[in-house]
Amino acid sequence: MNISRRPRRNRKSSAIRDLVQETTLQVSDFIFPMFVQEGTNQKVEVKSMPGIYRFSLENLLEELKEVTDLGIRAIDLFPNYAESKKDRFASESYKEDTFYLKAITAIKEKFPDLAIMTDAAMDPYSSDGHDGLVENEKILNDATLEILAKMTLAQAKAGADIIGPSDMMDGRIGYIRSNLDLNGFTDVSIMSYSAKYASAFYGPFRDALESAPKFGDKKTYQMNPANKREALLEAQLDFQEGADMLMVKPALSYLDIIRLLHENFDIPIAAYNVSGEYAMVKAAAQNGWLDGERAMMEVLMSIRRAGAKCILTYFAKEAAVILNGR
Ligand code: PBG
Repeated sequence: MNISRRPRRNRKSSAIRDLVQETTLQVSDFIFPMFVQEGTNQKVEVKSMPGIYRFSLENLLEELKEVTDLGIRAIDLFPNYAESKKDRFASESYKEDTFYLKAITAIKEKFPDLAIMTDAAMDPYSSDGHDGLVENEKILNDATLEILAKMTLAQAKAGADIIGPSDMMDGRIGYIRSNLDLNGFTDVSIMSYSAKYASAFYGPFRDALESAPKFGDKKTYQMNPANKREALLEAQLDFQEGADMLMVKPALSYLDIIRLLHENFDIPIAAYNVSGEYAMVKAAAQNGWLDGERAMMEVLMSIRRAGAKCILTYFAKEAAVILNGR
């Protein structure tokens, strides 16, 4: 048969396939989200996230030995606060010497080369379970910024390398940036959750932190999943306000948004492969409905292919084992 172009020739062996592979995935692309809680000797599995735990500090440090031995070089640390510590103002988030801040300092001391990202939003500390200050069931924007500024300054003082504002209030990046700079923390980076959608895929994470909103939903601040051009506006503002990296969240239903930001901004794009995306693959694999390892690698590769340089993913450890050749 006279077929002059035979694309299959480039797939004929593993060596040739690897030679022409367009996208690569490396362990250093991962940021591993981890959960820390108060207490001693705690390692509690998150019900809806098999293989993911909330650790008290000592156990977290042990786990980090394993994590760093696998070659993972960045983590994103989230605190789980007891209900009794929460209030309207998220005051626990900017007190000094809380277990969360102490954990950051302790990790930095023991693993100086590990990049630590911290979460900047009120929800883990808020008795309303919202990312902003609530008044008469409304989420106040500007009053929230003042709390975020205090929270991020405390995190920077504790040793955070990257601040991750995940709340979607307007103007937060500029406000946080200038407050950090004013206080001498010009080297602390900001990875902005720029296009964060009001998504059903955060469910398991809210189990992990016991941080679900007590009323309503997050639709007045997180984005409508139907919108794409609005993501450009959000990204533009964050870029202008000084974000060092832009993030899209969730990842899988928003690969087009990752691509859009990748094409329009010359700073690194990150994607958050969120808890629900992890849970879906795990649940199907546990049922024997799909090959969990292959699905995991395909998911991660697709996020890189879409244009994300770095990936926040609960799969980080498992994928690292595979990438390291076991
Ligand atoms: C909240 C926050 C959320 C996640 C990260 N930070 C949840 C939310 O917005 O309700 C979700 C992460 C995940 O689902 O893995 N500030």
